[in-house]
Parts: sequence; C-alpha cells; structure tokens
Amino acid sequence: MVEPVGEQPYTGGNTKSMSVPRKDGVLIRRYARNGGLVAVPMDFKIEGRLVTLRPIVPADIADYERWNNPESKARQYDGPWYNEDLSKVIEGRKRRLSQDYGPPYHSLEIDTKEGRHIGWLNAYYSERDPHATEIGISIQEDELWGKGMGTEAFSLWTDYLFKELDLTRIGFTTWQGNPGMLKVGVKLGFIEEARRRKSCFVRGEFYDRISMGILHEEWEARKKQDKGGNRL
Ligand SMILES: CC(C)(COP(=O)(O)OP(=O)(O)OC[C@H]1O[C@@H](n2cnc3c(N)ncnc32)[C@H](O)[C@@H]1OP(=O)(O)O)[C@@H](O)C(=O)NCCC(=O)NCCS
Repeated sequence: MVEPVGEQPYTGGNTKSMSVPRKDGVLIRRYARNGGLVAVPMDFKIEGRLVTLRPIVPADIADYERWNNPESKARQYDGPWYNEDLSKVIEGRKRRLSQDYGPPYHSLEIDTKEGRHIGWLNAYYSERDPHATEIGISIQEDELWGKGMGTEAFSLWTDYLFKELDLTRIGFTTWQGNPGMLKVGVKLGFIEEARRRKSCFVRGEFYDRISMGILHEEWEARKKQDKGGNRL
C-alpha cells in the first residue's frame, strides 16, 4: 500500500509528481494528494497474498510483445469484437517509461508472488471527469486463470484508486461471453448498472455488453465487513 514517508504543505505549482532524493539517498516521488504532499518510495508496490502490483519497468515490454498474439486466449475474451492487437497498448507503455511515470498511477503491472509478470491493470481516468472511472484488467498468462489472482488484483487496484483519487464510482464494462470478468465483479460487490443488449458481435453471435460499478461508500462498507477475509 502507499506508505507516506513524510507530508508537507503542497507548494509544487503545476508539478503533479516529481522525484527527489531523501536524506538517506532513497529516491522518492512526491505528489499532491488531499491538499498535502505525499511521498512514495520509488520501489512502490502493492502486496497481496497471491499477486504484487508494481509500476512498469523496461523489461516488461518484451512480455507485451510476446502477448501480442491474435490467437491468445485473453484476446478471445477481452473485447474480441474490436479485434485490436496490443500495438497501441505497447506504444502507450513505452511512452510511460520515457516520461518518468509516477504516482498516482493509472496503470500497474501484475506479478505473481514468485515475480512472474502476468498482466496489467489500467484506469481510463480523466481529470476532466474526476469522480468516476472505468478500469480494466488483463491476465495474459491464461494457465493461471481461475486461481483467484484476477479477483485479488482487481480488488487491490480498486482500493488503491479509491484511496488515491477523488472517485465516487469505479466501474468496468465487459460482455456476456466473459464469465471470468463478470464473476470477478460480482465477487467484489460490483453491481450491474447497464446492459446494452445484443451490442457486440462475436464469432457469429450477438451478445449483451454489461457495465458494472461500485460506489466508494459501498466499497468501504464491504471492507469493514471483510475484516480478516481474503477478498479485499
Ligand atoms: C477476467 C480475468 C482477469 C479473470 O482472472 P482470474 O485470475 O481467472 O480470476 P479469478 O481466478 O479470481 O476468477 C474469478 C472466477 O471466474 C472464474 N473464471 C475465470 N476465467 C473463467 C472463464 N474463462 N470461464 C469461466 N469462468 C472463469 C474462476 O474460476 C473464478 O470462479 P470461482 O470464484 O467460482 O472459482 C482473466 O480471465 C483475464 O485476464 N481475461 C482476459 C482479459 C479480460 O477478459 N479482461 C476483462 C476485460 S473487460
């Protein structure tokens, strides 16, 4: 989780995030949050029981290139009607690396506890629409599906974004033919908010597109109930 290592009044002007060395030489990143200045160590991580979330590093690009495979199982589930490859995602990740990417993060990578890079999380957040965001997840290494990693990663990501941004709602949009994603949402307390019937065409059939969401107060109430549990 985010561990503030020091807070001072925010005086950063337009600087949203900047790297500075701490007295002990550890590089930290400072950014504005809730009217104050928060400092986060550069080796930022969110640790779960099954997965660790962390910012992208250059070595991840090779995994993205390997995952850019039209035959992959993930491609069959993740918006298959778009039939898009990962080229734009890869370009975006490279841009992030070249721009000294810092918190609050709008995407993080997912590792297993053994340090294997297996996918990513993202938020389609816009400062022009600051109170609601859609988020996404992709675990590309499909032999690891069904072991609880998706649910845990999505839970850690939702929690991080509610803490970091002034959001009232977090949601995602998927489709009828993605039972894994729908189950992750239901298990974490997201509720169906909209269903656009027969609005995506996949392998010769029409399917409903489904949007699910959770409010900040609903998330906090679930966290209280789940004390000591393993979902949140
Ligand atoms: C959706 C996704 C993140 C789920 O990850 P995961 O690690 O399998 O998630 P979990 O193990 O926590 O599984 C959640 C539930 O869904 C079930 N599930 C996972 N994949 C499934 C599938 N393809 N078909 C049916 N059920 C599935 C799991 O068995 C589990 O059920 P359970 O709680 O009854 O045991 C993963 O399948 C994925 O990355 N898919 C490709 C990308 C994608 O579709 N992203 C969403 C775009 S909107």
